[in-house]
Amino acid sequence: MVGGEMHLEFYKAYKEHGSAVRIGPNRILVSDAHYLRKIWGVKSPYRRACTQTGMKLEPKRDTVLTYLDEEKHLQMRATLAAAYNGKDCSHVEKKVDSHINALIELIRRKYLPSSSQTPASMDFGIASTILALDIATDLTFSHPIQDSAECDQDLTGYLAGMLQGLPVMQTLMAFPKLIRLSTSSGASKLVESTKNSSTGLGRMFGFARDRTRERYGENKIVSNDILGSMVRRGLSLDEAEAEGLLAAMAGADPVGTAIRVNILYTTTNSRIYNRLMTEFAAHGLLTPASLTNLVSYDTLRKLPYLSAVIKESFRIHPPYVGLLEKAVPEGGDFLPDNRFLPAGTLIGSNIWAIQRDATVFGPDAESFRPDRWLECGSEQRGSMEKMVELCFSSGRYTCLGKEVAAMEIYKAVAEVRFSPE
Ligand code: HEM
Repeated sequence: MVGGEMHLEFYKAYKEHGSAVRIGPNRILVSDAHYLRKIWGVKSPYRRACTQTGMKLEPKRDTVLTYLDEEKHLQMRATLAAAYNGKDCSHVEKKVDSHINALIELIRRKYLPSSSQTPASMDFGIASTILALDIATDLTFSHPIQDSAECDQDLTGYLAGMLQGLPVMQTLMAFPKLIRLSTSSGASKLVESTKNSSTGLGRMFGFARDRTRERYGENKIVSNDILGSMVRRGLSLDEAEAEGLLAAMAGADPVGTAIRVNILYTTTNSRIYNRLMTEFAAHGLLTPASLTNLVSYDTLRKLPYLSAVIKESFRIHPPYVGLLEKAVPEGGDFLPDNRFLPAGTLIGSNIWAIQRDATVFGPDAESFRPDRWLECGSEQRGSMEKMVELCFSSGRYTCLGKEVAAMEIYKAVAEVRFSPE
């Protein structure tokens, strides 16, 4: 579980035992997309499970991601909508562009040496996540935590901190009784004490605290960014600090993962890469003039093969694979196969298995094959799209950063463009 292969164990369980598997005394792992969509729906009587508390970034502060009170959760979602959908924010695409351009410059400067030199290899695992973190902190605070021109290095220790923190989070969610410890005053003091450190997650927490304090009080900074929207829409300083921190951290890891999965699958398969280049060429995106600028998101999202590659990448490697458990309401409920579920049973999602459902994606669902999205009829495509969208959850839990994440991924992946000359 803490080794990073939980999703593969869950997939094995699905293959051996079917679409509902008991994984704890009162916990069921479900791979039935229809049922999950129902229990995540806006009017569903199911509620967030106590295990969601394990996702708290700070022991004493809830965020939209962790409120167990569903009314408070929906209220906060409504308040935050304009921050995340871009309505209250200026220059979102320009900011995304500036960071991707800095990464391209970095690759040119450091990793594409002149013909006499040996090319250096880049750790794209670091670069893709730090790029996403820089974008997220810029969109949230108008102040990137690091310079993307150096995103091949974990200069603030954020990644190292996440590598230590994520297994702790997973363990808390697996053993809810431990959550009491993690939300204790002692834990809170410990997190507070790290906020002045110069590295790791403490640095990130301190950065969010300092940026938020600048937005309140007499000489406050006013800015049209995610944090600015939160302030304008009435969040207290405490709430804005917690939600700002979440906005900066929620997307960095999954966006980084999605970018590198896409780039891995396209650049290591010449047939797929050439097909993508043919599509870019047909739209005039490989001319010398076009290659000097990033392509607009509006143009990219209309390219059928690029869209197929991105959907297929989400399918073959969902960037977030947590259980996201919900609790069965009073009176209990029934699984789709009519087995009874007592009230309080925790229902977790098996997202890796859902994306490999051969009845929806075909007998070769285990293979990365973007063409499946272009060969099928519109009804079939619609069913496949609904499945892949579950990577962002659905209904009242749908990811608030879904659109901005898509923009970052389309724009970064399109930069695998290379002129044939
Ligand atoms: C590929 C990228 C991403 C994936 C796969 C992803 C996935 C998810 C999922 C599965 C949830 C549901 C959690 C739950 O059920 O409790 C979620 C929630 C959320 N995500 Fe994302 N996310 C991504 C990017 C982002 C980005 C870039 C941001 C911020 C700009 C963001 C902000 C949020 C927030 C605030 C929530 C909480 C929504 C709520 O609880 O109502 N995400 N995300």
